[in-house]
Amino acid sequence: MTSVTSDVYGCLPGGFTVKRFCLQSESVKVEIISFGCIITCLETKDRHGNFSDIVLGFDYLEGYTNKHPYFGAVIGRVANRIAKGRFTVDSKDYFLPINNGPNSIHGGLKGFDKVLWTPEVVENGVQLSYTSDDGEEGYPGELKVLVTYTLVGNELVVNYKAWTSKATPVNLTNHSYFNLAGQGSENIYDHEISIDADHYLPVDDTMIPTGDINPVEGTYFDLRKPVILGSQIAKLQESGFDHNFCLKESKRQQTCARVWHNPSGRVLSVRTTQPGVQLYTANFLDGSLKGKGGAKYGKHSAFCLETQAWPDAVNKPQFPDIVLHCGEQYDQTTCYQFSVE
Ligand code: BGC
Repeated sequence: MTSVTSDVYGCLPGGFTVKRFCLQSESVKVEIISFGCIITCLETKDRHGNFSDIVLGFDYLEGYTNKHPYFGAVIGRVANRIAKGRFTVDSKDYFLPINNGPNSIHGGLKGFDKVLWTPEVVENGVQLSYTSDDGEEGYPGELKVLVTYTLVGNELVVNYKAWTSKATPVNLTNHSYFNLAGQGSENIYDHEISIDADHYLPVDDTMIPTGDINPVEGTYFDLRKPVILGSQIAKLQESGFDHNFCLKESKRQQTCARVWHNPSGRVLSVRTTQPGVQLYTANFLDGSLKGKGGAKYGKHSAFCLETQAWPDAVNKPQFPDIVLHCGEQYDQTTCYQFSVE
């Protein structure tokens, strides 16, 4: 049985109320706010039955309205990077705000993480809707978006649906930062990870995929068998993982990643319908943000598993297509399962 309760989380300028929804089962408690569809708290049990909050974030709304690295938020209209903020759809060129080096990232200056969604309680969860105007952040077409979070037992399921009035790229994900030792723990070096991907996307020095789809075989990106994150990160030339792993093509949910934290026993397993997952090991966190309970989040203090379409797909015909057309439905689901071992 999942209980769903709500309260007022805060107030935005202009008097708009931000609501918080608490979904609670026997083994998991998750809190979601209507600003940015953000997961602000996610408590799961360790092997002794003790709950800890395993996601990074802030104690107050201001943390989320200020600039921050997308803690817990839903990202859109297009998650990840679009090279030079440019693309062409239906023979028309579009120009997006440049907000990451020479590129556009995570929906632009005011992406879906920075807007107020309209929430509605549903069975075992909450459904949040948002209509993105034609031209918003440079993207074509009015896009109606519906994000549904449901909790059943130890599984948190996130479903994303969208419909557009004109052809537009769409790529929606959730950007939660996990630390299975509990948020505020120093790093994730003692976590063991596996990702079921035979290929990954190498990137250029602005983090845009080169266009190659490289086999993981024989590289440090081969995570098909579990590896310890600390020692694997140490082997990389890069400062950590920040790469898209290409998942096997399937319309059905497939297991894409598993993370095990031996000291607590916590396990996170992720299943998704998406064609890719970005493993990001919080390489850009530097301890300057004041997080929950005064925590200072340093480099590698969390990992993200952003299930998504492939970065810059709108400019790479060899990547799975991300253009949604008028009359079509975007429909993607990611399931996070929490257990102990
Ligand atoms: C990107 C990182 C970026 C982070 C926060 C991730 O999706 O891959 O490069 O730093 O989001 O913006």
